[in-house]
Amino acid sequence: MTPPGFPAQDGSSKMTVDARQLEALERLANVGALASSVTHEFNNILTTILNQAKLGTRAAESEAARRCFEKILDSARRASKITTGVLALARGRSSKIELVDVAELVEQVLTVCDKDLRKHFINLQCDFGNRPKAEIVPSQIEQVILNLIINARQAMEKGGTLTVAVQENVALGTVEILIRDTGCGIPAENLPRIFEPFYSTKQGPDESGHGGSGLGLSLCKEIIGRHQGRIRVESTVGKGTTFTIKLPKKIPNGTPAHAA
Ligand SMILES: Nc1ncnc2c1ncn2[C@@H]1O[C@H](COP(=O)(O)OP(=O)(O)OP(=O)(O)O)[C@@H](O)[C@H]1O
Ligand SMILES: [Mg+2]
Repeated sequence: MTPPGFPAQDGSSKMTVDARQLEALERLANVGALASSVTHEFNNILTTILNQAKLGTRAAESEAARRCFEKILDSARRASKITTGVLALARGRSSKIELVDVAELVEQVLTVCDKDLRKHFINLQCDFGNRPKAEIVPSQIEQVILNLIINARQAMEKGGTLTVAVQENVALGTVEILIRDTGCGIPAENLPRIFEPFYSTKQGPDESGHGGSGLGLSLCKEIIGRHQGRIRVESTVGKGTTFTIKLPKKIPNGTPAHAA
């Protein structure tokens, strides 16, 4: 039986690999290959731009000049966020596979987010079922949960409810994580693009001074793929969005997660 909070049907329809997704995967592979060679150099250049722009902001002799330096600073910060995301994508952090209580890991991420959620009037509902364990790379799955929660929070600008659930599907040998928000939702025409690297609708600066890099969900997809899992999305504009992740309880030997 499907516990409350989980969609009843199996998630095969929305994530079929079409030409566009193949293209995106290819781009992702290219990003990974390019990242290690250019990002270090690029970061050095960005550090110089950031430092000089900071100095310029302080030393500017007119308001117009100060505003110019602030724009440079803002753009350089956005660029720096992108390089950091690309590096995370390329390196994948630690790759040690451990048998982990998935609900406990999700709870740890929620502890980090708790203050931020309350600040934005977001009510949290959790359902951790029978606390199943799965073989995962904890730091990578933490990153996925965090990215999805941040997206959910950003989608609920005026507050709302965040539902987080973990359940075991004994028949399939999977652990499923559900993250549902009551936020703005995603228009149907945008859904096929949200996992593409650099796809973002968050153009304006957020509260930290940055827009979106559009790497959050592509990183999630990459990580879940390494775990031989699946991630799917369902969304209704004005009502909210649900992301569901299915992870095998045991990663077969020789998967990319082992090799990472
Ligand atoms: N829970 C959600 N509700 C509404 N829209 C979403 C949600 N999650 C993702 N999106 C849409 O998918 C896009 C891509 O998300 P992704 O996390 O990859 O990038 P981002 O959030 O824009 O930037 P970043 O995560 O790098 O800060 C978002 O810009 C947004 O349009
Ligand atoms: Mg995001």
